[in-house]
Amino acid sequence: MMKAQSMGGSFTVLEGRKERAEAIRNRLLKAEAELSEREMRHHNALLEETVRQRTCELELANARLQESLKQLQATQAQLLFADRLATIGQLAAGLGHEINNPLAFIVGNLDYVQQQLIRTGGVPTPEEKQEMIEAIADARDGAERVSLIVRDLKVLSHPNDMERGPVDVVASLRSAVKVAAYELRDRASLVEELVAVPPVNGHKARLCQVFLNLLINAAHALPPGQAVRNEIRLSTRMDGPHHVAVEVSDTGCGIPPENLERIFNPFFTTKPVGVGTGLGLSVCHGIITALGGKISVRSEVGQGTTFTVSLPVYEASAEQDSSAQEELTSRAA
Ligand SMILES: Nc1ncnc2c1ncn2[C@@H]1O[C@H](COP(=O)(O)OP(=O)(O)OP(=O)(O)O)[C@@H](O)[C@H]1O
Ligand SMILES: [Mg+2]
Repeated sequence: MMKAQSMGGSFTVLEGRKERAEAIRNRLLKAEAELSEREMRHHNALLEETVRQRTCELELANARLQESLKQLQATQAQLLFADRLATIGQLAAGLGHEINNPLAFIVGNLDYVQQQLIRTGGVPTPEEKQEMIEAIADARDGAERVSLIVRDLKVLSHPNDMERGPVDVVASLRSAVKVAAYELRDRASLVEELVAVPPVNGHKARLCQVFLNLLINAAHALPPGQAVRNEIRLSTRMDGPHHVAVEVSDTGCGIPPENLERIFNPFFTTKPVGVGTGLGLSVCHGIITALGGKISVRSEVGQGTTFTVSLPVYEASAEQDSSAQEELTSRAA
């Protein structure tokens, strides 16, 4: 009985210890869990703080970038404006200069005629009359020069005012050669490599003007009196399936690299006053780009220069196609 009691007592003691141990373990586990949760919260807070800081830094960097971008855009706009102003200034100065020369010439000749008429009381001798007629003819030439400059400026400002149609570039080149013959005669032998090409989408008179400008430039790049030694070569070829290329090359003085970028600018010229206005190539560029083509140049000082004009092949529009189709159908009927 005693034994049983004492066994029962030790059983109870054991139970009690086990419970306490369990309770301690539970408390420990809870404490551990609380600790790791606190740590996690702490880490989370740290992480959030770091993210917040980084976001702030990124926002600052972004704002700085935006600011730099704005500054760059403003500077670019200023530069463009300054560049445009410079171009307008250059244009105005060149224009004033080019128009002033023939104007001074016109005024001089008209003054002369006026004075002669006053002096002779309107009854000049035959020689005086002849001199007055010549002075008036010279004044007229001067006025013609002004009107040519204005015409060229119109092409520059409204290059799109051109009716387009199929143009045979070989025929255009031949017409230009005829007009330039006098300038070419003494300076170069003309070599023609004119392969038949499909018509281009262009304007006959304007294309002729382009080729004439290029031919005259080529002639001016060659010294007179050495026609046997020098050559101006004209060629036509396909430039891919949809374009025709026309080349005008010469064995002349060439263009120094520092001038190559400027030759298409209005009024850029290396020629003396009265010989060149510097409008020729800018007019060519205006016409060719308005026709959807390209004009480019290759040059080597002392060796020569080649200008290449590339123009889109004329393709009958859908309207033309359908009217041609209608015509065929009505003929068949
Ligand atoms: N084939 C060429 N060889 C050498 N230099 C050339 C040639 N073509 C053009 N240039 C240079 O380019 C400049 C500009 O040519 P552009 O035809 O625009 O004007 P210009 O010939 O001087 O005058 P304009 O044609 O108005 O009478 C010329 O003054 C010349 O310096
Ligand atoms: Mg020229």
